[in-house]
Amino acid sequence: MLRFLLFGCFLTIGLKCDNQTEPLIDDEYPEYNDPRCLSGCFFESNILQVSTMKIFPTNCSTVCAPYSLHISIETDLNEKQLTNILKNMKHLIGSLYVFRSKFTSAKFLANLETIDCYNIGTLTISLNPKMIEVGMTSLSNVSCRVDISANGLYRLNMPKMKLVQSPYANYSTLDLEFMSNSDDFCVTVEEMSNFMESREVVLDRFGRTTGKYCELSNTTNLPQKTCDIGKVSLENLDSGCVNLRGDLLIEEGDEEHVHKLETLETLFGNLHITKTNLTNTNFLGKLKNVMSITEDQPTILVDFNELLTNVSFPSLNRILSTVHVSIQFNNNSKELLQNPSFCYNILNSLNNQTTYRTRFDGKVCEDVEKSIVKDDKSKGSAFSNGLWVLMILTLVFV
Ligand SMILES: *[C@@H]1O[C@H](CO)[C@@H](O)[C@H](O)[C@H]1NC(C)=O
Ligand SMILES: *[C@@H]1O[C@H](CO)[C@@H](O)[C@H](O)[C@H]1NC(C)=O
Ligand SMILES: *[C@@H]1O[C@H](CO)[C@@H](O)[C@H](O)[C@H]1NC(C)=O
Ligand SMILES: *[C@@H]1O[C@H](CO)[C@@H](O)[C@H](O)[C@H]1NC(C)=O
Ligand SMILES: *[C@@H]1O[C@H](CO)[C@@H](O)[C@H](O)[C@H]1NC(C)=O
Ligand SMILES: *[C@@H]1O[C@H](CO)[C@@H](O)[C@H](O)[C@H]1NC(C)=O
Ligand SMILES: *[C@@H]1O[C@H](CO)[C@@H](O)[C@H](O)[C@H]1NC(C)=O
Ligand SMILES: *[C@@H]1O[C@H](CO)[C@@H](O)[C@H](O)[C@H]1NC(C)=O
Ligand SMILES: *[C@@H]1O[C@H](CO)[C@@H](O)[C@H](O)[C@H]1NC(C)=O
Repeated sequence: MLRFLLFGCFLTIGLKCDNQTEPLIDDEYPEYNDPRCLSGCFFESNILQVSTMKIFPTNCSTVCAPYSLHISIETDLNEKQLTNILKNMKHLIGSLYVFRSKFTSAKFLANLETIDCYNIGTLTISLNPKMIEVGMTSLSNVSCRVDISANGLYRLNMPKMKLVQSPYANYSTLDLEFMSNSDDFCVTVEEMSNFMESREVVLDRFGRTTGKYCELSNTTNLPQKTCDIGKVSLENLDSGCVNLRGDLLIEEGDEEHVHKLETLETLFGNLHITKTNLTNTNFLGKLKNVMSITEDQPTILVDFNELLTNVSFPSLNRILSTVHVSIQFNNNSKELLQNPSFCYNILNSLNNQTTYRTRFDGKVCEDVEKSIVKDDKSKGSAFSNGLWVLMILTLVFV
């Protein structure tokens, strides 16, 4: 074996030989070169059904599926049979599709702990009208693009799932979206906390990761104080909350309570500040993440606050949005339009990724800046016109 490898190395004359740590990956079916894939542990079909169950490597804890594993409309097995076939599979290398199936959950995959699609394959759970929860409760590391859409889901029940880079691939962006599940569909704050753990994971590739956040349960096990603004007003909210669940509305009469938000770091919902007499947003000095999944609403909307002359979100780092213009300031004090740094500071916090998605009275930062320059110019020319008039008057009167 070693001799074969060395010989292969000699032939390829590539840089690969210098670097034994770099895995060699067959572009089309990398599973065949993956040292984690043992012979006898391959599923060399794609749809799992009665006719293929005999070739499924039931005893392997790591199963490699170069042609993907499909549980679909053709899967003529019942939940009990699937559970039995899949019970030893802890690690899947290859894509997984649970697609157009008849099942009410994917609990037959409850023992599955990791899925590695080399970052480019997918974990798709889609078009299962009867599926009310996913229920893959052991699943943690997923190195796939994830799409969970158009099911009858009201819960994910995937409490451990997080997206991590594949140890055998170092390219491509991981992303995740869930959409068009049932009207009552909700994701827990713990689930979203896992999804957003890595800054690299894209959660709104098409701006359509939508749903609601589930009400906090007794079992909420987050390390920091987590409160529910969906059920109480700001007036009745506890102090010291670090995470908030629910859309946060700050309106007339709330001014005296905003100090309670000084500890807020992550908002699992959107932020709307409207018709207040607040003069600044300094009380949101620690706000880092605003993860809105509420359909058709901006992530941050600040409007009709006539006295608001300074806005800053110095800790802001990440937003999740369901609309094109995710951050909107409209009809606040004129001062906000007279200094483009309010707008640019927000872009800068968000790594300049929201250039077209942050607007002050409809203008992107650059246009806010340009209209100030224009105002200065027109002031300038008014001044020089004035000078001319003065000179002419002086001439006439002398
Ligand atoms: C070999 O791998 C190491 C670490 O993985 C890396 O720093 C180095 O640049 C690689 N060398 C070549 C020739 O690819
Ligand atoms: C799986 O393991 C069981 C018991 O360990 C054994 O009886 C069975 O033959 C094995 N099946 C295959 C396909 O290897
Ligand atoms: C999951 O990913 C993390 C981070 O990449 C890694 O440290 C951990 O060992 C992985 N766990 C498993 C079971 O693969
Ligand atoms: C992937 O590549 C990036 C830069 O190209 C490097 O910083 C990182 O350490 C690499 N990760 C792995 C797991 O090789
Ligand atoms: C939450 O806790 C309360 C009181 O401790 C209890 O009555 C209630 O049943 C619990 N709810 C759940 C869902 O565990
Ligand atoms: C701001 O509004 C609150 C109630 O909405 C009011 O009590 C307070 O006097 C107002 N402050 C100013 C400076 O207008
Ligand atoms: C806005 O408020 C922040 C924080 O108090 C301050 O650092 C900044 O200088 C203010 N900006 C302006 C233009 O007044
Ligand atoms: C955003 O762009 C500005 C201006 O081009 C630049 O000064 C700043 O460093 C950039 N910030 C980040 C985080 O890339
Ligand atoms: C809000 O601002 C827009 C232009 O930015 C203006 O057309 C509109 O009349 C304003 N609305 C109110 C209620 O002042």
